[in-house]
Amino acid sequence: MEREQLESSARKILLGNLRQGVADWNGKEYSFVVPSLNGYPFQWFWDSCFHAIALTHLDPNQAKLELMTLMGGALPSGFIPHIIFWETEKRDYFLSRNIVGSTNPNYSSTIQPPILAYAVERVYKSTGDESFKAAAIPVLINYYRWLKLYRDPDQDGLITVIQPEEAGTDCSPKYDNLLDLQDLSNEGFITALKKLYQSYEPIRHDERLLVSSDIFHVEDVLVNSIYALGLQSLARLLGNRPEAIEFRDDASKTLEALLNKCWDPDVGAFFDLSGTSETPVKIVTISSLMPIILPDLPKSIVEILVNKWITSDKHFWLPYPLPSVPASNAKFIPGNPNGFIWRGPTWINTNWFISRALYDHGYQDLSEEIVSKSIQCIDQSGFREYYNPYTAEGLGAGDFGWSTLILDM
Ligand code: GLC
Repeated sequence: MEREQLESSARKILLGNLRQGVADWNGKEYSFVVPSLNGYPFQWFWDSCFHAIALTHLDPNQAKLELMTLMGGALPSGFIPHIIFWETEKRDYFLSRNIVGSTNPNYSSTIQPPILAYAVERVYKSTGDESFKAAAIPVLINYYRWLKLYRDPDQDGLITVIQPEEAGTDCSPKYDNLLDLQDLSNEGFITALKKLYQSYEPIRHDERLLVSSDIFHVEDVLVNSIYALGLQSLARLLGNRPEAIEFRDDASKTLEALLNKCWDPDVGAFFDLSGTSETPVKIVTISSLMPIILPDLPKSIVEILVNKWITSDKHFWLPYPLPSVPASNAKFIPGNPNGFIWRGPTWINTNWFISRALYDHGYQDLSEEIVSKSIQCIDQSGFREYYNPYTAEGLGAGDFGWSTLILDM
């Protein structure tokens, strides 16, 4: 597909999925893109950041509104929900089919990968709008301080997720044992999730107890790589302000912890840490590669990630790379997962992260190959939620918002 055609198809999806109005529960104006009109009719945290980045190529003003709407959901504590139910009338139907951790009917009480400051920086760079930046900065400072205060109780620089959806990679096989998953299907996953939610029920209001109770406690590599990326952006956005030092130091601390605690030199991959005991979860998934998005990741490690995993046809180098789980994993499901997601198919958001990172680390050809394979997926199957890595068959939701990230690849 030519660039012009990609842009016009992406525009159709982003504008088609645009929701605008005034919320009846808080009187705030909203203007944002839903991930998909059918399956995901609300504002999701990291999706929204991806939509804003794609929109910088089409409609920078709408990119600002997307992020202002997301930041409009911030609580006084600094917390920003992973889902905001702007259109209340759609909520009951959605909740009859999905479960969401919440203490308020209008938004979730859980997080998603904290890419917000990076998205703000990109939108600021593309618009040069100082008032947008000035409005975003206090929200970002509060948000990243909230994460540090409540999600990093051992102060090692790694933040914790308390349920799999917080990491954005919901049913990844790396969580199977932690969830004591018996039935390997979406139904089995929902049953396990319900059990987890039940244990959280008495403590949902207590942010500290949620983490210290050590029920599902994962210092997740994908989340922390994105956390460090966000902290670096925030430090740059702050320029000469004194807080810039705080966030720059936080970013370095997170990278150091990823290297010291999550990197396994024998396997040559990064692993999540489970529990307050920080037991490595030795299962390679797309998440194990994610520290590559950090520009200051040592070159020797980048080389291992590229040579051992990304370009290996035993693992991630399939006809339409990069699968969410390597083909070498016994639980790899390349085809339709029937809702049991993040266990094989290729997603455009992870291809966006990794192709850009490869480019910046000097692997331009490899990066371009991932971009061109991603375009082929969209060409063949449209903007879908994810794709079969052998056939490029489109799977999951249709007209899916974040696949428009292709414009930024
Ligand atoms: C799925 C994905 C999650 C995404 C959401 C909305 O739950 O796992 O990452 O944010 O859908 O697209």
